[in-house]
Amino acid sequence: MSVVAGTRPLLDGAALDRAPSVPRDGLAPALDVVDLVREFSRRKATPVRALDGMSLHVPQGEVHGLLGPNGAGKTTLVKILSTVLLPTTGYARICGHDVVTEARAVRPLIGVVFGGDRGLYSRLSGRQNLEFWAAVQQVPAKALRERCAGLLDRLGLSSAADRRVETYSRGMRQRLHLARGLVADARVLFLDEPTMGMDPVAAREFRVLIGELRGEGRTIVIATHDMAEAEALCDRVSFVRGGKVIDTRSPRALADLAASARGVEIDGPDAVTLGALRALPGVRSVDGDAEVSRVWVHNEESVHDVLRLLLDRGLTSVRTMRPTLEDLYLGLIGDRGLEV
Ligand SMILES: Nc1ncnc2c1ncn2[C@@H]1O[C@H](COP(=O)(O)OP(=O)(O)O)[C@@H](O)[C@H]1O
Ligand SMILES: [Mg+2]
Repeated sequence: MSVVAGTRPLLDGAALDRAPSVPRDGLAPALDVVDLVREFSRRKATPVRALDGMSLHVPQGEVHGLLGPNGAGKTTLVKILSTVLLPTTGYARICGHDVVTEARAVRPLIGVVFGGDRGLYSRLSGRQNLEFWAAVQQVPAKALRERCAGLLDRLGLSSAADRRVETYSRGMRQRLHLARGLVADARVLFLDEPTMGMDPVAAREFRVLIGELRGEGRTIVIATHDMAEAEALCDRVSFVRGGKVIDTRSPRALADLAASARGVEIDGPDAVTLGALRALPGVRSVDGDAEVSRVWVHNEESVHDVLRLLLDRGLTSVRTMRPTLEDLYLGLIGDRGLEV
């Protein structure tokens, strides 16, 4: 795995009876997170609960999204799973190995890529950076050069491999980061906001690469606040909020949910129009004030019905709205009557 900020004591072999015994490696789920709590103490203030009973199960070979706004606890979870931060209570296993009591068994199984472009040695070349990381992660000397060259090639960095990293574009640095996460041949890869700041072309290439890694049977966990990214890349998506998983769905179900949270915004509609809108079968609700009204619909088709009605009545000052993550959460809470 890559080195991440912070350290933690090694507890391998400690006589902590934390979790019931489970099948190992091939048979075990890639990720088994049960009731994980992590508190950060603050001087003279109540502690922050970054994780508040997080549970998550991911089978091997799945691309799983952790979708949630800033502060939801995604990075804290990734740090615990990558053995650099200890949980307060609860436990987590990767391919059957406990991340606290068996951290040494876990580390060779995982790769971690944090988004952004920091943490590389800018005076060294891309190849030197990668070979250094491979050595730190104890890639056998015989395989090291070839493995690094292969990764640089695969990530489109071959021609720049011997240039100093300080001459790289941001996208190239991000790709080098990804290479770093892959250098130890990880079975489970954690990507934390991987396309943050990437230009659209680089982001598209990145998605292709994720597809290839998935084809190799690796498990990939992607933490993101970007709904489109989660929808494009993942087999399943877990919504994270307040340190908990509040729902897990397929991207298809996510798209349906997004459609159901779509709406149309209208400047200054009259009472008759509002009445007619409320009477449309596809309309869920109408809110707003005298100046701007918002019409919420059940699906994409209903958006067209609403627009047609408005056009017929001569109202053209309208905008369609894409749902935000917050809107989706409201939809989920509405669905399930959950308290979040
Ligand atoms: N080292 C820390 N000390 C204190 N609070 C922290 C620390 N790391 C994270 N937090 C808090 O924990 C919560 C979850 O943060 P984080 O896991 O980074 O969320 P995300 O990655 O989803 O944005 C936030 O309220 C954050 O401020
Ligand atoms: Mg984060």
